[in-house]
Amino acid sequence: MGVSTTKVVLLCLFLFLGMVLPGLLMQPEASLQVWDVLEGDFPNNSSSEEKLTFLLNYAILAPSNYNSQPWLFNVSDGEIQVLADKSAWLKVADADRREQYISLGCALENLIIAAEHFGYNCSVSYFPGPSDLMATVSLTAKSSSPSDSNSRLFYAITSRQTNRNPYEPKTISKADLETIKSLCIDPDVGVFITDDSAVKRSFQDLVVMADGILYSDVNYKSELGRWLGLGVMGPTGLQAKMAQLAVVFLDVGPEQTKKDAMLINSTPYIGFISTANNDSVSSVKAGRTLERFWLGATALGISLHPMSQALEAAETKENLTGLLPGSSEMRQVQQAFRLGYAKSTTEHSTRRPLQDVLIGE
Ligand SMILES: Cc1cc2nc3c(=O)[nH]c(=O)nc-3n(C[C@H](O)[C@H](O)[C@H](O)COP(=O)(O)O)c2cc1C
Repeated sequence: MGVSTTKVVLLCLFLFLGMVLPGLLMQPEASLQVWDVLEGDFPNNSSSEEKLTFLLNYAILAPSNYNSQPWLFNVSDGEIQVLADKSAWLKVADADRREQYISLGCALENLIIAAEHFGYNCSVSYFPGPSDLMATVSLTAKSSSPSDSNSRLFYAITSRQTNRNPYEPKTISKADLETIKSLCIDPDVGVFITDDSAVKRSFQDLVVMADGILYSDVNYKSELGRWLGLGVMGPTGLQAKMAQLAVVFLDVGPEQTKKDAMLINSTPYIGFISTANNDSVSSVKAGRTLERFWLGATALGISLHPMSQALEAAETKENLTGLLPGSSEMRQVQQAFRLGYAKSTTEHSTRRPLQDVLIGE
């Protein structure tokens, strides 16, 4: 008995010194203060570069897969380059980088909404150079006094969040659903939001199947664990390291599957964003639309929760297309999500401080 207690104590010490302590010391600097950005702090009397840099305070509040924040920015006079941060790529869960490009699209949309709010016209070139350069945004000050048709989206940037709580079985009014759908303004992107119980059940079956596949893949669990341990996905500090150990060493799959099934079951609407093509520009455009929806929903007090599991397992991904209406020409599902009124609120997640994602020329 004494020996096994000693062994347990030694094992705990080994885990703490070998995994938890170094992990704690290596957790990246993370900030919640980024959410307090104030419109009135726009540096009206400063250089063009400082003004454009200020806009990025809004870009970094975008959602991203695993809160990986896979963006870097290069600001010069009249231009912002948005680059993919290779170190933030989730090679197992997001092998084709679809989620990374969607996340970059979300950040790009926030940037453009903020730029237009502060009086700029924007023109975007997608992938104009090396593959990591996702977009170049050229910004010119509007000559006449700025009108901002997207101001409700701008003001929603600082309150948008992922709400993973159960949603109430409450109908969204036709007018509000139309308002959200009308935010899809890109002809290359399609959206399908439904409360059809047969579609919801089929989606639930695919998510359950995907969870089973993903949580029996040690590489998936170890990657998920690593990101949890970094403290960017909710729990921070020691709690984050404990969450990492639980995902890596315990069989958390069945519990997660049960939770996901319950969430879909209790959700009044599910939605899909799809495109005709399956390439990186399509994923960026899908991300821009996702963010517009999310901000539009936020402005109406409606929550959104992306659910990517069925897209992360090859076996279930192709079956998602079958859930889209037969008439849709956009057959590549880019993102699936829940939509509804959340039963309870949640906290903001942290971000890397702006100076950490700015690169010089
Ligand atoms: C492309 C993409 C995929 C996502 N997939 C999921 C998912 O499958 N499950 C989930 O709970 N959240 C998902 N999210 C939400 C992110 O985890 C969330 O945006 C991130 O943790 C930052 O938190 P915030 O949205 O509250 O700011 C996804 C977000 C994006 C942009």
